[in-house]
Amino acid sequence: MSTAISPTAYNYKVVRQFAIMTVVWGILGMGLGVFIASQLVWPELNFGLPWTSFGRLRPLHTNLVIFAFGGCALFATSYYVVQRTCQTRLISDSLAAFTFWGWQAVIVGAIITLPLGYTTTKEYAELEWPLAILLAIVWVSYGLVFFGTITKRKTKHIYVGNWFYGAFIVVTAMLHIVNHASLPVSFFKSYSAYSGATDAMIQWWYGHNAVGFFLTTGFLGMMYYFVPKQAERPIYSYRLSIVHFWALITLYIWAGPHHLHYTALPDWAQSLGMAMSIILLAPSWGGMINGMMTLSGAWHKLRTDPILRFLVVSLAFYGMSTFEGPMMAIKTVNSLSHYTDWTIGHVHAGALGWVAMISIGAIYHMIPKLFGRAQMHSVGLINAHFWLATIGTVLYIASMWVNGITQGLMWRAINDDGTLTYSFVEALQASHPGYIVRALGGAFFASGMFLMAYNVWRTVRASNPVETEAAAQIAVVGAH
Ligand code: HEM
Ligand code: HEM
Repeated sequence: MSTAISPTAYNYKVVRQFAIMTVVWGILGMGLGVFIASQLVWPELNFGLPWTSFGRLRPLHTNLVIFAFGGCALFATSYYVVQRTCQTRLISDSLAAFTFWGWQAVIVGAIITLPLGYTTTKEYAELEWPLAILLAIVWVSYGLVFFGTITKRKTKHIYVGNWFYGAFIVVTAMLHIVNHASLPVSFFKSYSAYSGATDAMIQWWYGHNAVGFFLTTGFLGMMYYFVPKQAERPIYSYRLSIVHFWALITLYIWAGPHHLHYTALPDWAQSLGMAMSIILLAPSWGGMINGMMTLSGAWHKLRTDPILRFLVVSLAFYGMSTFEGPMMAIKTVNSLSHYTDWTIGHVHAGALGWVAMISIGAIYHMIPKLFGRAQMHSVGLINAHFWLATIGTVLYIASMWVNGITQGLMWRAINDDGTLTYSFVEALQASHPGYIVRALGGAFFASGMFLMAYNVWRTVRASNPVETEAAAQIAVVGAH
């Protein structure tokens, strides 16, 4: 390892920008989550206006939390990890800057168009064609920056975290482009190139793999870098990580039909989706175990390090949601869970417990390093954030389990004469307490994000431009 300061330091500017925006969009997206959760408790909050109605704000919530919050966390961490593990600067500063501004433009476009009611109606792919095209251009540029940087790496191996990030980038591009094939009829309206059951199949091939590659594979890239780093231990098994990678990407792509059980989709496709989903438990848990076991010999650090706690608890939620998912993919279980709040609980076990918590841990790990500080302004506040996030997630998912199972059982209850035992409204009334608890859990989680914003702001404010620039220089000298 050289001791001289390299003249070409890392490009931390773009990492800093994406990291800060992760916090900003996190607050906005989760704040909106709390708002729509409150609308389900107090429908008056729809205000009788079209653009503040649940139906329009819900897709804005999903776009903000998945693409704005999750996306910025993925951009920030992948740019950070690829530079440090390849020991080289990003291949192009201007292209990287374009990905930052382009991505923010897509998000602002979503904030404007979705409340106005412009939507393709495809879940997680709602953005109309002009924004979808911009997104595709930004994404391809992202791929160029990421893979270009890998090709000029100074290390022999490509660290496993980059494999996961790489697969996430390639597959997301493929899904987005195929699912968005459409015929524009005006600037704000297009029709899908596919029809009927084919359209549904392609949409859920996209939808499920958005979960599999955007919300899982990218974050596993994060896990493979930040868990060993924060625990100061090597990854438990490099061999397992390779098996994990190939098994995960081979299996995920087939599981989409579990979103379309008991529909017009051919029966064989539904059964295939179910079988593949059950097999998917193996690589999912293999990855989780690899992350968890990295802590062997370092478990005591959990007592004092709340950042590590964020990372490890996120893995526990990952394990939980990837156990629950295969169970829900079984057709008989799905006949109870589908259409109910159980699905919503499952989604947020993954989204809050896994995606958000690992991102938060990674951002706390990076911020001091990006701004030339020894550590975050307040470890106590990170700890408080950790508890707010954990309690919030548990309240959210527990209330949705209770609601989901209650709804499923009430809807299928039948009297001796074949009539329904309960009306739909009765099931809704029974769900009301659960909605209150969910809104409370969401408020816990979102308030933790405010603590984070304050802590980040104090850390950034305490740094000065010289230290900040030096951080990128010194990083090149140190081992990755
Ligand atoms: C404060 C935190 C959050 C709250 C209170 C919240 C609340 C909600 C609510 C009320 C819904 C609509 C449920 C329904 O239609 O019955 C929803 C949907 C959804 N949220 Fe969140 N959310 C939060 C955070 C997140 C995060 C961080 C993510 C992703 C990283 C996320 C991803 C989703 C997804 C994917 C859906 C759609 C689920 C489906 O269609 O099955 N949420 N959220
Ligand atoms: C082995 C892993 C997993 C499997 C097999 C799986 C399976 C499932 C199943 C069967 C459903 C319900 C489909 C329905 O009835 O409509 C579902 C919904 C969902 N899951 Fe998972 N899941 C897994 C992991 C995850 C993870 C880790 C996340 C989040 C990070 C996640 C996010 C979602 C979302 C967002 C939906 C709702 C989609 C929608 O209807 O809008 N899943 N999953």
